[in-house]
Amino acid sequence: MNAVLEKIIAIGIMPVIAKLESEEDCSNLAAALEAGGVPAMEITFRMANAERYIRQVREQHSNIVAGAGTVLTIDQARKALDAGAQFIVAPGLNPEIVRFCQEQNVPVIPGVATPSEIEQAMNLGLQYVKFFPAEQSGGINAIKAISAPYKAMGFMPTGGLNLNNIADYFAFNRIIACGGTYMIGKHLERREWSAITDLCRKSVQIMLGFQLAHVGINAPDAGAAASIASGLTQLLMLDPGKDGANSVFAGTAVEVMKHDGLGTNGHIGFRTPCLDRAVRYLKAMGVSFREDTAKYAPDGSLKIIYFAQEIGGFAVHLVQA
Ligand code: 3PG
Repeated sequence: MNAVLEKIIAIGIMPVIAKLESEEDCSNLAAALEAGGVPAMEITFRMANAERYIRQVREQHSNIVAGAGTVLTIDQARKALDAGAQFIVAPGLNPEIVRFCQEQNVPVIPGVATPSEIEQAMNLGLQYVKFFPAEQSGGINAIKAISAPYKAMGFMPTGGLNLNNIADYFAFNRIIACGGTYMIGKHLERREWSAITDLCRKSVQIMLGFQLAHVGINAPDAGAAASIASGLTQLLMLDPGKDGANSVFAGTAVEVMKHDGLGTNGHIGFRTPCLDRAVRYLKAMGVSFREDTAKYAPDGSLKIIYFAQEIGGFAVHLVQA
């Protein structure tokens, strides 16, 4: 896959920049987004001088994936690419703009809201589209319905997204990224940079959706594991838990490893609604995993994986909820 698309999908959140008043604001905004764990900017041609800000971000903020939004004409697309835009987004599907970007080898994510437009995008060889305006067009339920016949298409919804509804979008694995202005809002004109960072961080937390799944105790053998699990079950009045080849649970909160348990002191498991998404994001942020611990579901999606590092003597793993 194209490296820019890969990065957009890994970050999973696309701030849409509709208004900037100075290069200083642009720089502060870029830094605020990056500090919040969202190093991405769709700089829209709703601003007369969008290309100036695109150039600035490309020159001064190399960690940020920066592209152009609201690209309505070939002229704007050309200006955006001259300024170094790494991708092009448009509210609608204009085949001329799509073909122009394809000729330039630059990822283009045009907007769609109907099956006919999705088919047009497919005919143009596209794999990803923006779903716009998302909430006003029926939100995540509309995307689920509309995407059912088009198994290979990924969607970037924008329009009306916010902290209260993004979890539902992220829970659907055909969503490549959630876009919008909600993490910027009025904070930009008030120059409340830390508020923007907080909103980005909250968005990432919602996307990752980590919740404690269980703690793991390392026992030397199956007999010891059974006795630890039953001790806890009796002590806490738990239901007996799953008894598998490698471990036995006390209820659902404690997993006792029968052999070769990872972690000096044991392990901690966190569940997430979309493990593939969480791992993609964390890898993009430089986090390492123990690939030898990865287990996959029959459909190829990731079920479980351990982080490379131990924390406080505990191995830590993520598990698909
Ligand atoms: C866009 O251009 O993608 C949307 O206008 C962003 O919509 P929002 O302001 O509702 O997030």
